[in-house]
Order: sequence, then C-alpha cells, then structure tokens
Amino acid sequence: MDWVDLVLSRRSIRRYETRKIPQEVLDKILEAGRKAPTADNRQPWRFIVITDPEIKEKLLQDEYNVQAASFIKEAPVTIVGCGLVREDEYTRKWGTIYSILDTTIALQNMVIAAWAMGVGSCWIGVQATPFDDIVRRLLKIPKDWKIIALISFGYPAKQPGPIKKKSIEEIVSYNTFEEKTTSR
Ligand SMILES: Cc1cc2nc3c(=O)[nH]c(=O)nc-3n(C[C@H](O)[C@H](O)[C@H](O)COP(=O)(O)O)c2cc1C
Repeated sequence: MDWVDLVLSRRSIRRYETRKIPQEVLDKILEAGRKAPTADNRQPWRFIVITDPEIKEKLLQDEYNVQAASFIKEAPVTIVGCGLVREDEYTRKWGTIYSILDTTIALQNMVIAAWAMGVGSCWIGVQATPFDDIVRRLLKIPKDWKIIALISFGYPAKQPGPIKKKSIEEIVSYNTFEEKTTSR
C-alpha cells in the first residue's frame, strides 16, 4: 500500500490484541510527535505514556470515562498530550493559544506513524468532561498544561465497520467560502 492509501485507510480502533507494542515501535510513534511542526518552533508540549494497568484502572473510575473510553483498559499504551497554555508574551502577541494546535498536530502525527506500523489508535476527548479532572489529578498535570487529548494505541483485534464521511462536495470550495447544506 502506498503512503497516501495508508493514510486514507486509517480508522479509529477500539478493540486491541493483548500483545504489547515493542519499545522501538513506541519510540518511533513518539518520534513522529516530536518531529511535528509547531508555531515558532516552540514545541510547547508534553506527552505522558501510560502503560501501568493500575493507572488505566484509575482512569476508568468515573462512569463517563467508562462510556467514552473503556478500551483504555485493553490498549497496551495510552498517550496523554498536554499543551502549555500559560499567558505569556507570545500568546498575547498572536491572540491565540498555538500550543493547542501544535499538540494536536503532534498527536495526529503519532496516530499516522502508528497506523503505518500496523498499530491502531483512538482519540479520546477530555475537554469539559470528568475525564479532564481525573487525568489531571492522577498524573499530577499542573494547571497551566491543558490536556489536549488521550490516545489509546494497540494492535487491532477488530476492524471497525464502514463509516459515512461527508463528501468532498459538501466540505470543499475553491477560492471562496461557500454555504453548503451538510448532513450534520
Ligand atoms: C478530538 C476527538 C475526540 C474523540 N473522542 C472520542 C472518545 O472520547 N471516545 C471514542 O470512542 N472516540 C473518540 N473519538 C474518535 C471519533 O469518534 C472518530 O474519529 C470518528 O467517529 C470518525 O471515525 P474514524 O476515526 O474511524 O474515521 C474522538 C476523535 C477526536 C478527533
């Protein structure tokens, strides 16, 4: 499969084999994050790799978390991406918190690199959910680090069913914004 087809074939994977991810594979996934682009090359991120079953168990202590991400328990690795959101001169100058974009890009780089090596993954959103608090307390994440997302990683045990994506016509216009009726 060529590189583009590989990217096109990516799906969220929520069922994992019990087999561990070898350290060299995990290192490459992390390296794909490290090499991602960032505004002003600031690299305002931290990544916490969770492998400890006890921590996974504690992450799932809330009913909301179980509903959103019970698969964390099965996944051999979950990576928590954090972006620095300190009010500093740079943020004031540009009026935006680039660390959120930067960390998101890094996490998706990891997802694609993992997929290229046969490792599936699933994004887990935490914003404004009980997850945020639990993850922050458990992993001792300081207040000025925003938890951007968790991503579970593991070898796929089951391929997901087909999914409907919006068509190119629904989401793309050339040279100017076009109002479009979309399905969601
Ligand atoms: C920011 C973000 C948050 C997500 N949060 C969750 C989640 O909490 N639980 C979950 O099972 N999937 C989560 N997903 C995965 C989406 O449900 C999935 O990407 C979407 O249904 C499209 O499916 P696909 O990834 O297979 O193309 C999240 C995806 C993103 C990008």
